Amino acid sequence: MRVLGIETSCDETGVALYDTQRGLLADALHSQIAMHAEYGGVVPELASRDHTRRLLPLIDNVLEQASMGRQQLDAIAYTAGPGLVGALMVGASTAHGMARALGIPVLGVHHMEGHLLAPMLENEPPDFPFVALLVSGGHTQLVRVDGIGRYQLLGESVDDAAGEAFDKAAKMLGLDYPGGPRVAALAEHGDPGRMRFPRPMTDRPGLDFSFSGLKTHTLTTIRELDGRGQLDDQARADVARAFEEAVADTLAIKCRRALEQTGLARLVVAGGVSANVRLRARLEEAASKRGARVYYPRGRFCTDNGAMIAYAGAQRLLAGEQDEVGQMKAVPRWP
Ligand code: KG4
Ligand code: ZN
Repeated sequence: MRVLGIETSCDETGVALYDTQRGLLADALHSQIAMHAEYGGVVPELASRDHTRRLLPLIDNVLEQASMGRQQLDAIAYTAGPGLVGALMVGASTAHGMARALGIPVLGVHHMEGHLLAPMLENEPPDFPFVALLVSGGHTQLVRVDGIGRYQLLGESVDDAAGEAFDKAAKMLGLDYPGGPRVAALAEHGDPGRMRFPRPMTDRPGLDFSFSGLKTHTLTTIRELDGRGQLDDQARADVARAFEEAVADTLAIKCRRALEQTGLARLVVAGGVSANVRLRARLEEAASKRGARVYYPRGRFCTDNGAMIAYAGAQRLLAGEQDEVGQMKAVPRWP
């Protein structure tokens, strides 16, 4: 089955072609980051309009890469939520329109299920069951995964998501959107020994996270340094480093705990923040102490992309799921 995957939930237009026998055939992405950067964050209306402009050319692009015509598609999967409603509607209506015209099944997919299954596109995918750490701009979750659609939430953030915390810390440090990669780059020049930030909620049992206190701690530290006239480039780098170490450490402590609790030896890490190199190092350390292996998506499939949606959709379509004709789904909040 050849499945076209469409992702338009936020600020990336992603399209891919996945063949359930041959694997990933093609993928293409248009990022809106540069467009939103001057506003310091995603502007929903601009996002929707840009998805409208980019989506059909990207679909033609992946079909061309795979030397295929639209008629050869067997099904279409799109991100139905969670995300920005206008942005979601572009993908949903395009998917439903094309599927109706071609007379093929179409299915709305949960964006986080896409992230969760992205490591399955790699050469040595993890076997079920595994523990997954989902860390994106909107989510921080630990999930026990026993199979496609068999997910048990083990813990999640009670306030900010890890990516959101990175983005806010970046703003405090005067860095552009999206903050995560920029904080990481600045942290490279930071002295790891100068400051130690708290590891929230690690001193009590449980697998939930909280990052809002760390955000406040970061702001207070920056203000104090500024008040003493000490907020130079080195100090900003030191703050970035202390912040990044604290987030990475906190996530690693909880992952180790989740592996202990479940007795599983496979840890999957996905979502935008999984691109963070220091986080990966901390997770490798934590997992190796338990003899566990860590699995990631390749770099460009850590952040939003069409391939993960094509894959997740294909698995569910194979199991017989599909949207009712004309019932396109755009679900901004979808637990
Ligand atoms: O999964 P994603 O592309 O979109 C959502 O579904 O949210 O994740 C985006 C988030 C942003 O908050 C971004 O700052 C963060 O992932 N991010 C990073 C890195 N790359 C992206 N955070 C830390 N370090 C990175 N290298
Ligand atoms: Zn995402």
